[in-house]
Amino acid sequence: MTYQLGLIGYPIQHSLSPWIHGEFLDKANLQGNYKIMEIDINDSFAEKIEQIKNEGIMGFNVTVPYKQTIIPFLDELDDTAKQIGAVNTVVHQEGKWIGYNTDGIGYVRALEHAYPELFQNKSKKKVLILGAGGAARGIYHAVLTSGYMQIDIANRTKESAEKIALLNKNKAKTSILTLVEAEQRLANYDLIIQTTSVGMKPNTDQTIISLENVNPAAVVSDIVYQPIKTSFLQEAEQRGASIHFGHTMLLYQAQFAFEIWTKENVSTDQMDEELKKILEGR
Ligand code: ATR
Repeated sequence: MTYQLGLIGYPIQHSLSPWIHGEFLDKANLQGNYKIMEIDINDSFAEKIEQIKNEGIMGFNVTVPYKQTIIPFLDELDDTAKQIGAVNTVVHQEGKWIGYNTDGIGYVRALEHAYPELFQNKSKKKVLILGAGGAARGIYHAVLTSGYMQIDIANRTKESAEKIALLNKNKAKTSILTLVEAEQRLANYDLIIQTTSVGMKPNTDQTIISLENVNPAAVVSDIVYQPIKTSFLQEAEQRGASIHFGHTMLLYQAQFAFEIWTKENVSTDQMDEELKKILEGR
């Protein structure tokens, strides 16, 4: 069997997913290919999706700007995708097109791989999420599901943070903060997760908040991976905190998607360093 896989989104010509899934196919000793299927925003999405579905594809990833657009074209959504309201992985199974979202779980897997101790005594640890966009939503859901009991959200616009907090059905405690309040209370948190695009190339000198009050025992995480070490992570490191890189989320969301398509558990060993090198060369 040859796995026909791919990616839809726009623009995606520089996506790293073909490299990642090519490595996974090799590691799992499977025949297959993963192709870029860019859908121009001026094209008919419905027509393009029909075409892709009819080409014998077994599964595909979905990226910006189509993570919500894809939903009406699917037969089923798994629970996580349903609650987040966004799909990044589709599988064709027994004639049905099923949508999943592996972003948040990928993030948590990457974090656990790097900092297993963060996952002990989770009920006593305090998490702060900065930002309230699509990425924050997936991460909040996954962090909540993994058992943390206090997960606060700080965002420029309060209303978006409040919408995300609705995912919490009284399981954990969530306070909504302004970015200034987050700066002031920063010392309370064991894990700080930056989920916005602030600090991404070309605006590499920007940081969403000052880390002046960070607890040196905390882990500071940034989902931005261009550059690999953002100004936010540099500041965290200077202040003695541990840091967690954004490119690892890319790797582990892909690992989980690959599991959904092939039922194979592939390791990401060495790929972290290789991916870092590829990104640093850009
Ligand atoms: P994604 O889906 O990739 O997460 P998004 O939905 O556009 O992206 O979300 C962007 C997030 O980054 C939001 O939380 C946004 O804050 P607002 O809700 O107030 O818009 C945040 N954001 C973007 N630029 C920002 C900036 N310069 N300062 C602070 N927050 C910013």
